[in-house]
Amino acid sequence: MYQGLLVMRKFLFVGITFAALLHFMLHIFVQKKTISTLPTDAVKEFKTCYNEKFRLILNMSEIDPFLCQDIRKQSVNLGSSKLDLPYGTRRAERFFDMALKNLPQCNLPEEIKNISCKKCVVVGEPKSAAQQLIGPKIDSYDIIIKMNDGPVLGYEDDVGQKTTFRLCYPESIFSHSLHYDPNTTVVLLMFKPHDVKWLSELLMHKRVSTYGFWRKPAMNLIYKPHQLRVLNPFILRQASQNLLNFPISFPKTEKPKHPTTGIIAITLAFHICNEVHIAGFKYNLTSLNSTLHYYGNETMSVMAQNEYHNISAEQMFIRDLVEQKTIKNLT
Ligand SMILES: *[C@@H]1O[C@H](CO)[C@@H](O)[C@H](O)[C@H]1NC(C)=O
Ligand SMILES: *[C@@H]1O[C@H](CO)[C@@H](O)[C@H](O)[C@H]1NC(C)=O
Ligand SMILES: *[C@@H]1O[C@H](CO)[C@@H](O)[C@H](O)[C@H]1NC(C)=O
Ligand SMILES: *[C@@H]1O[C@H](CO)[C@@H](O)[C@H](O)[C@H]1NC(C)=O
Ligand SMILES: *[C@@H]1O[C@H](CO)[C@@H](O)[C@H](O)[C@H]1NC(C)=O
Ligand SMILES: *[C@@H]1O[C@H](CO)[C@@H](O)[C@H](O)[C@H]1NC(C)=O
Ligand SMILES: *[C@@H]1O[C@H](CO)[C@@H](O)[C@H](O)[C@H]1NC(C)=O
Repeated sequence: MYQGLLVMRKFLFVGITFAALLHFMLHIFVQKKTISTLPTDAVKEFKTCYNEKFRLILNMSEIDPFLCQDIRKQSVNLGSSKLDLPYGTRRAERFFDMALKNLPQCNLPEEIKNISCKKCVVVGEPKSAAQQLIGPKIDSYDIIIKMNDGPVLGYEDDVGQKTTFRLCYPESIFSHSLHYDPNTTVVLLMFKPHDVKWLSELLMHKRVSTYGFWRKPAMNLIYKPHQLRVLNPFILRQASQNLLNFPISFPKTEKPKHPTTGIIAITLAFHICNEVHIAGFKYNLTSLNSTLHYYGNETMSVMAQNEYHNISAEQMFIRDLVEQKTIKNLT
């Protein structure tokens, strides 16, 4: 009886030791596997500053945020070659080739790569009373993301002086040298083949065609080529599908819904930051007469008429992110 117990204890001990060893080995195996599928640059950071929540929202996809010259390889791996802009590269490859050939860089700027745990703030465009005088707070972040032609000049007290990344497209990029900032990297969002054509024409100093735009695009580049990047369309797809849960295709009778620049900026931030805060993301949906942006005279009615966005879906999504403490709202 006693001996039987002793044998059983021995078995149990061996069993538990074996299970622990197996668990440990599997753990290392899984971790190794996850890390080895990441781009090399990200690996070091992944170990030290890993934001589980962002990876879950992005459906665990770790990708290069910007397009490089080997766009076909980049596109095939992500399935982008089977989708049209803005979610893929199909039917715009020729223009992408011409544009990307003339962009000297496609990675994160060195000084940003060197920051190990990046604390980011995304500054939205909606006008909000709460945003007044938080400029110095915004300037204290490692990475400051702004968008479109939302000016810094004259609004420093509210939006801060610094801009690390500025997300924009041909109709919304600054074209007046007054707004030039040598410390900004401009991230171009390409919504249609004409946008990519526009970029290639500007980079090759050709005559710029204004055909196919909903508003006159910039006719000159105030930025130097090394300051420009093209956002990977896969990030737009993630913003739409993984974040906002928009359908992939829309019936012919309905305008397709795309995320606003603000949501795309937050998605990009989930890729390159370890902590994301936002400021000025609240639209006043109750009054069509209220001012839309912190700058300019446009009213909320402009946004309400825009059938390509679903602002109420976006506002709910942001509210949820803040409630779940995935991001922090400064305003
Ligand atoms: C998440 O990724 C898996 C595997 O890559 C894929 O099958 C699934 O459709 C993705 N889900 C979403 C919502 O994109
Ligand atoms: C980034 O770090 C590398 C290696 O640590 C260093 O050589 C380089 O000068 C740094 N670059 C910047 C812009 O800080
Ligand atoms: C750009 O960065 C440099 C170095 O940090 C700084 O001295 C300069 O004032 C910045 N320029 C602008 C326009 O912010
Ligand atoms: C909107 O503003 C205009 C002029 O400022 C005013 O005449 C109109 O009554 C306002 N409408 C609403 C719904 O507040
Ligand atoms: C929305 O705009 C209306 C009219 O301009 C204003 O009375 C109201 O306070 C605003 N709401 C918010 C949340 O800012
Ligand atoms: C806004 O409206 C004012 C007065 O109506 C006008 O003087 C100003 O030029 C407008 N600003 C812009 C950016 O349109
Ligand atoms: C916008 O999104 C909300 C919430 O997902 C949905 O109920 C509504 O039907 C959408 N509106 C349009 C015009 O697609």
